Amino acid sequence: MSVNVLEAQHLYFSYPDGTIVLRDLSVAIERGKKTAILGANGTGKSTFLLHLIGTLKPSKGKIFFNQQEVQYSRTSLLALRSKVGFVFQDPDTQLFSASVWQEVSFGPLNLGWTEEKVKEMVTKALRITDTTHLKDRPTHSLSYGQKKLISIADVLAMEPEVIILDEPTASLDPQYTIHILNLLNEINKRGTTVIMATHDVDMAYAWADSIMIMKDGIIIKKGNPVEVFLDDELLNQSSLTKPFVLDIFNKLQLNGYLPEGITIPRSRQQLFEIIGRYAKNSRL
Ligand SMILES: Nc1ncnc2c1ncn2[C@@H]1O[C@H](COP(=O)(O)OP(=O)(O)OP(=O)(O)O)[C@@H](O)[C@H]1O
Ligand SMILES: [Mg+2]
Repeated sequence: MSVNVLEAQHLYFSYPDGTIVLRDLSVAIERGKKTAILGANGTGKSTFLLHLIGTLKPSKGKIFFNQQEVQYSRTSLLALRSKVGFVFQDPDTQLFSASVWQEVSFGPLNLGWTEEKVKEMVTKALRITDTTHLKDRPTHSLSYGQKKLISIADVLAMEPEVIILDEPTASLDPQYTIHILNLLNEINKRGTTVIMATHDVDMAYAWADSIMIMKDGIIIKKGNPVEVFLDDELLNQSSLTKPFVLDIFNKLQLNGYLPEGITIPRSRQQLFEIIGRYAKNSRL
């Protein structure tokens, strides 16, 4: 099997009102990885992600899922969306059933699975997202963070190969953010490719295996978090800031407090360990 699970080739897209968004966007997304897409507001991240599940159709260009070109018939799209799950930024766009159990059952029932299999998959999705206790609650009565978890359970119940999330941690408190990120790591460890759009450079730097930077409707850079976030010119032209951990590390190194050639930290924890190791020799 190819390393790329999804691939976009020369995508162009304009909304019906004439707003041109995607302009010759080409990129490949690797299987099994955690990919974060960053870029300024209005640069086309959500528009691009909606192309990956066939909700938007490019005016020119192609999308491939597992080397198969995406087709836009009802049955092809249903099959695609059972393999590539999408979690909307606003859970109220996603959730429409009366109760949590009905909500999470909807996708699997739509796939024509037996009642027994649906029950098994819904139970599992609620367990993984730690939301079993909410199963009989009306969806409209849930808090924002709980709705977010149910949106993820919705998608997990179909056991997709890929899960795409549009700004999954926006508007969440720090505890819920950690909960969602741990959940995404767990899902990824089970073999699912995870793709997210986010504005959180600190989180993306620590979390992702691969970073894609989007600007004016194209992906202008794809690479590992360290190489992407060390590129000051790229960050400037994409209206992004350097992650806190990398910024502090850079400044300590530039000022001679840390030696050259040590492994660049990705998390606060790793940075604190490095500082702890070298502090006794520093001039601080
Ligand atoms: N339904 C629509 N009709 C017309 N224009 C739209 C529509 N949806 C989005 N746009 C426009 O398309 C461009 C890209 O929007 P998109 O939502 O994809 O950006 P984004 O990168 O996800 O931004 P954000 O970070 O703010 O979520 C923007 O100029 C936006 O105004
Ligand atoms: Mg968006």
